[in-house]
Amino acid sequence: MTGLAVVSGGGTGIGLAIAWSLVREHDVVLIGRRAEMLDRAAATLADQGAGTVRPVTADLCDPAAVLRAADEATTGGRQVDVLVNNAGGNFAPKPSDDLTETRDQYLVNLRGNVLPTVLLTKALLPALRRPGARIVTITSIAAFRGNASYGAAKAALHPWSAELAGQLAPDGITVNVVAPGYVGGTEFYRDRMTPEFHRARSRQAPLGRGGTPEDVAGLVAYLTGPDGGFVTGQIIQINGGALPGRG
Ligand SMILES: NC(=O)c1ccc[n+]([C@@H]2O[C@H](COP(=O)([O-])OP(=O)(O)OC[C@H]3O[C@@H](n4cnc5c(N)ncnc54)[C@H](OP(=O)(O)O)[C@@H]3O)[C@@H](O)[C@H]2O)c1
Repeated sequence: MTGLAVVSGGGTGIGLAIAWSLVREHDVVLIGRRAEMLDRAAATLADQGAGTVRPVTADLCDPAAVLRAADEATTGGRQVDVLVNNAGGNFAPKPSDDLTETRDQYLVNLRGNVLPTVLLTKALLPALRRPGARIVTITSIAAFRGNASYGAAKAALHPWSAELAGQLAPDGITVNVVAPGYVGGTEFYRDRMTPEFHRARSRQAPLGRGGTPEDVAGLVAYLTGPDGGFVTGQIIQINGGALPGRG
């Protein structure tokens, strides 16, 4: 029987590339807030692999919506083989000198990056396949390098993931983080994206280019595939060398 993969933020960008890769061998549930993006993604993914694709609309910061999405994702008592926590973004990219604005920026980024991951994972915990499920959470190079409230929010997911890896290892479930550097071609940078911005970001990587959503999807495919079963509790950077790993 085809396995079940749940990808948050699977309607666009990195999440959509991950869904493209997972649908080869899984039924895939795409979760996001905008139904039209999810429907469009589901239409492009249809018949691209062995699996079916189901869009589920939900704001993953809202506990009631998360419970409903988890129920929909596991309709018929399905077990979850792969959970990719990809939903998030930088919702306050311009730091402020004002204290109240600074508070609001930290709250909006903590809310928008931590809650979708923590709430969806918690809601799906009982449905994870034991043994065998894989959880991957997408954080960012910003968690190591800074970037104010966004970096802080992504960094918060690192100890969360490490703790969960320890809790779920006895059940045969792996839990890892993928922390990408600059990835172009997504909605992430919105109106900040210009050709010069893209060139400048791409030059930060010694490999001489920015990452692609497919680069990240390839790493997620390894962690969720047959060769990745002994990797757990790790934070794996993918950034073209823009920030070397610590020895
Ligand atoms: N692009 C980069 O350079 C880069 C680098 C490092 C890390 N990342 C991380 O990679 C992940 C994917 O980003 P991306 O570059 O692919 O940008 P993106 O296209 O903006 O993807 C973000 C996705 O998350 C969904 N989402 C956001 N908040 C949500 C919520 N509360 N509930 C449900 N879905 C939600 C969005 O859909 P809706 O708006 O429809 O909800 C969208 O599909 C993010 O976590 C981002 O922080 C990106």
